[in-house]
Amino acid sequence: MSASRRMASQSENGTVVEARGLWKRYRLGEVVVEALRGVSVAVGRGEIVAIMGPSGCGKTTLLHCLSGLDDFEAGEVLLAGASLGGMSDDWKTELRARATGFVFQSYNLLPVLSAVENVELPLLLVGARGREARQRALEVLEQVGLRNRAAHRPSELSGATGNLDSEMAREVLDLICSLNANNGQTFVIVTHAPHVARRAHRILRMADGEIVGDERLAPLVLDGPAFGDAAGGTSVLRGTSALRGTSALRG
Ligand SMILES: Nc1ncnc2c1ncn2[C@@H]1O[C@H](COP(=O)(O)OP(=O)(O)OP(=O)(O)O)[C@@H](O)[C@H]1O
Ligand SMILES: [Mg+2]
Repeated sequence: MSASRRMASQSENGTVVEARGLWKRYRLGEVVVEALRGVSVAVGRGEIVAIMGPSGCGKTTLLHCLSGLDDFEAGEVLLAGASLGGMSDDWKTELRARATGFVFQSYNLLPVLSAVENVELPLLLVGARGREARQRALEVLEQVGLRNRAAHRPSELSGATGNLDSEMAREVLDLICSLNANNGQTFVIVTHAPHVARRAHRILRMADGEIVGDERLAPLVLDGPAFGDAAGGTSVLRGTSALRGTSALRG
């Protein structure tokens, strides 16, 4: 078993990402903001977790810390069983590429690449062979109904308004639920929209850098792989503003 494979496996107890006593502080000149104040939370394999809470309560900061995009002052983050504290940036980047995916409100697709090239790029970055990456990218496009648009650039994909509008948000949410049900993929969604949060298994509520509520809406059914399937592993959805407010999805 290679190091990277071991790295991308989940922890023994079925937890895919976990924060323990997480503290995160931002300094803006003289001003210090305590963005996370001792957050402890574990997300289990196959869960869809919605994070809610008022603007500035620390939702985005938590996602950034859970995915290794941001450092933290104290506490610990375990992603796919690996501790992020003290891990090099290169190693974190590799772990993120192998074990997680992101859906950004603004998509963040590379405009000069076709749909299939955008999808296969992360696979090539972690060392997949060209032919294998192309085949997996096409399979994933097939899964999301975009196989016949593989050669189109982002600007040529229908409905490419640059942001997740409410219709897209609903479709993305449907896709999340079906990927979760079919592949057992884990999702963490930041949203301001109650109708989005209601489709999660669990709602975490944050206030002032702390988790103040943890509500289970549906039992967790565990089947299917957590990591390493063609469609990727844990998906951390950031900036669910499209899911935000009445318009629907994305954070
Ligand atoms: N780069 C930064 N520098 C300084 N302060 C920051 C930075 N990013 C976030 N903060 C502060 O940290 C706190 C938490 O911010 P965060 O963006 O995590 O909130 P949020 O819950 O995602 O809010 P929103 O719903 O508006 O997206 C806020 O007080 C914010 O002003
Ligand atoms: Mg935010």
